[in-house]
Amino acid sequence: MDLSAGIERAAEAFQRTRKLVTFSGAGMSAESGIPTFRDPGGIWDQFDPEEVGTGPGLLDTLSRTPEKIRAFADQTISVFLQARPNPGHLALGTLEQMGILKFIITQNVDNLHQEAGNKKVIEIHGNLFRQRCLACGAKKSFGREEFLTKFKTALGELARVDLSSIMEILPKCHCGSPMRPDVVMFGEAVQGLHESFEEAGDCEVMLVLGTSGVVYPAAALPQRAKEAGATVIEINPGESAYFGVADIRLHGKTGEILPRIVEKIRNA
Ligand code: APR
Ligand code: ZN
Repeated sequence: MDLSAGIERAAEAFQRTRKLVTFSGAGMSAESGIPTFRDPGGIWDQFDPEEVGTGPGLLDTLSRTPEKIRAFADQTISVFLQARPNPGHLALGTLEQMGILKFIITQNVDNLHQEAGNKKVIEIHGNLFRQRCLACGAKKSFGREEFLTKFKTALGELARVDLSSIMEILPKCHCGSPMRPDVVMFGEAVQGLHESFEEAGDCEVMLVLGTSGVVYPAAALPQRAKEAGATVIEINPGESAYFGVADIRLHGKTGEILPRIVEKIRNA
């Protein structure tokens, strides 16, 4: 199916449906300057997920090659600091305002769906700007600038990067203990899983945006929607695990295609 016909069909499906739910991944934020994980040159091309993507790996890297942690943190903070919602995020904000989009289930931790105006967002892999206490588990949200700029400056000023110096510069909880970003690392429990499966099982259209679909349990959500009878629509310029699951595949960037679908609905 050619792209225009696909956009037409997607717009019709959105207008007809009782409930659209979106499942998004890193591709959604690629046009905001945040590299994806598995595309060529992506985050897992630059850094080894075994070394920086798990709690034990991080601690081991911190003790053996601490400068890798400084480089990873510095690079991540820089891209997240400059990132703003792109036209794809803003289009989803409009779809929620139109009463069509009921939930976004996102794997992204960049807060860009919320900054684009979406209120109903389930962050299955957490949020970089929310901190979690290492001792009592209390959570606290910080603004983008407040947390990232402060941490980047403090990290740059560290003469030596090791566990105690990192703990020193982490934000402190009201109980006095250090707080870490409330993001889900490999091997940790995801957040909002039950609610995500509920929403995926209750939607009529599941819109899959910019995800390779390889990290479970989140990656099972489109399949869950399909089994419950939903139409699955995918927007992705590359490959994903949803070949054969998606009923409509729109090859292209979310920042380009989503605004065209919203335009189609507006002009209907
Ligand atoms: N628009 C839409 N899709 C895009 C764009 C774009 N502009 N650019 C790239 N993509 C697609 C790629 O083709 C790829 O299929 O986005 C997908 C990104 O896949 P990954 O890098 O694997 O990211 P994601 O699927 O979100 O990873 C899932 O893995 O490392 C963990 O916790 C991390 O949440 C992440 C999870
Ligand atoms: Zn605490």
